[in-house]
Amino acid sequence: MLEPERILRLEEDAVVLLDQRVLPIEEVEVRCRTAGELADAIRTMVVRGAPAIGVAAAYGIALTASTGDDLAEADRVLRASRPTAVNLAWALDEMRDDPSFEHARRIHTDEVGRCRRMAAHAADLFAPGTRALTHCNAGGLATGGYGSAVGALLTAWQRGLLEHVWVDETRPLLQGARLTAWELEEASIPHSVIVDSAAASIMAAGEVDCVITGADRIAANGDTANKIGTYSLAVLANHHGIPFYVVAPTTTLDLSTRDGAAIPIEERDPAEITARFPARNLAFDVTPAALITAIVTENGVHRAPYSQSLAGVGATA
Ligand code: MRU
Repeated sequence: MLEPERILRLEEDAVVLLDQRVLPIEEVEVRCRTAGELADAIRTMVVRGAPAIGVAAAYGIALTASTGDDLAEADRVLRASRPTAVNLAWALDEMRDDPSFEHARRIHTDEVGRCRRMAAHAADLFAPGTRALTHCNAGGLATGGYGSAVGALLTAWQRGLLEHVWVDETRPLLQGARLTAWELEEASIPHSVIVDSAAASIMAAGEVDCVITGADRIAANGDTANKIGTYSLAVLANHHGIPFYVVAPTTTLDLSTRDGAAIPIEERDPAEITARFPARNLAFDVTPAALITAIVTENGVHRAPYSQSLAGVGATA
């Protein structure tokens, strides 16, 4: 498993990030000395994944407090860096009353702890010999350690329940083909990368027992925003009678947002898709709650109706 401090950490004069843009070819660190530099690193996806950008933002606030720079301005630039993952706003809200190094580090440690607990709950859903399909990267890189959906795969593997992982490539930035495949390789878990559009055929061939993904924001009714392509997978899973699981910490719940229609969806630079033609680069989509078999948090397995099963579930350390 990737050590949390290797993924991101706070030093006296910088937030240090493992550059996820160049993995797995190169292992390079980026040092951010101001909140502005860190916001750029979040925007350009040096660090990415909902819980990890929350932890990074917490570190950015702690760094700003220690240098005596403008905390309100740091909060503003970090909050604006990416719109969809609610963990970013959650972590910034948390840091308001106590912008210390210790508090930021505790937020990091707590996220990793939540991952381990939710992974244990999610692995309970696996039968022996499970062939799972996952999308994007919901591993340690995305959470600051252990991972949500990939954490569930690690735990299921350790329990001898997992046979194979199908890894969606995840166009256009290839978080699956580069990051999830790398994490699974490090854990010696059998896996195959597939192009995103191959999922339907592999399901039709009877080679997928469950789909498991992370989340960037879960509305009060269970509608879930995650990497673009997640919704298509949920439709496909539903068509083929395959369970579709979302694994995410309570810091990803946004109970103040009623449903998925109100979740802001990031649109990124069209040049990430093609430099030659006009393009529209939607980075996330919303999977309707009706297509989700279960949402797993560190508190356990939540099932429909989510407006009831998620009600009152807050972030727990
Ligand atoms: O654009 P990204 O790479 O930040 O998108 C990440 C995802 O969609 C993940 O699935 C999500 O953040 C969950 S991470 C545990």
